[in-house]
Amino acid sequence: MVVKTIGVYGGGTMGNGIVQVCAQAGFTVQLVSRRQETVDKAVATITKNLERMVSKERISEDDKAAALGCIRTSIDVNDFAACDMVIEAVAEDREIKKIVFETLSGIVSDDCILATNTSTISVTEIATYAAKPERLIGMHFMNPVPVMKLIEVIAALQTRADVTEAVLEVSKKIGKTAVLVKDSPGFVLNRILIPVINEGIGCLADGLADAAAIDEIMKLGANHPIGPLALGDLVGLDVCLKIMEVLYSDFGDSKYRPHPLLRRMVAAGYLGRKTGKGFYDYN
Ligand code: CAA
Repeated sequence: MVVKTIGVYGGGTMGNGIVQVCAQAGFTVQLVSRRQETVDKAVATITKNLERMVSKERISEDDKAAALGCIRTSIDVNDFAACDMVIEAVAEDREIKKIVFETLSGIVSDDCILATNTSTISVTEIATYAAKPERLIGMHFMNPVPVMKLIEVIAALQTRADVTEAVLEVSKKIGKTAVLVKDSPGFVLNRILIPVINEGIGCLADGLADAAAIDEIMKLGANHPIGPLALGDLVGLDVCLKIMEVLYSDFGDSKYRPHPLLRRMVAAGYLGRKTGKGFYDYN
């Protein structure tokens, strides 16, 4: 099972990072997004990231040109037809993922690997949306994708062993460390990390300290590179809320209750860096 051409569905924060690392590893990458505006923004972000790497002498001008030359873009899902593997990085919503995998199943070849970048939803459930569930797998990238070393690889109950092997191989080729985990709500990373952010929000709501002080405590006291509130702003508070909601409902355990302040922040549209305001102001 040799993967040469990788499709990425969705050009948002995660999608454009995945396109960048795959292109830098020399894969031909087909990015498809619903809107041309998203595609243009993704290419601009990737170009800017590569230029920053050139200016820091991490890569050469030729490397940058080669990576950009590996990227094809489109707003037509039929362009995934020639891909050996398609990685989905669309919104974290069961209904949307269902439509995406049903659609992809009618386009890709029988041998194509389908990967979902879901951060919490059961990969076993998502596999049922595909015509060939045994070819579907979870490939959970971290934000920012070009910087973070980990990929959580989640085999669904249906995933064939050779599909898992091929995905571990691709992960290695793109310079990441893949760790295989079982399918369970939030897998390992988000089951631990997002409740930490939720608890940081609880400390803020209880008035224990202000946002900067809470983050300073976790940076200096636990050696985290960034505090929980700044991390919530980086991940997106809407994403944090969605993940807490899945943990809460799928485990049925009150310890995963999303903090009411998290709900209020999302209701106000204060989603973090992407909207310019979260627990910090980015304008
Ligand atoms: N894209 C590409 N490169 C980026 C980047 C981005 N979005 N953001 C930062 N970088 C690069 C910078 O260019 C810089 O590179 P060099 O070392 O080559 O100079 C490096 O990362 C460090 O950046 P900065 O000096 O600007 O800032 P920093 O030291 O504060 O680091 C950070 C920024 C890497 C994001 C750091 O704060 C960090 O590691 N934070 C934790 C991130 C984390 O935990 N991510 C996981 C979130 S959970 C998740 O993603 C899963 C989920 O499902 C929710």
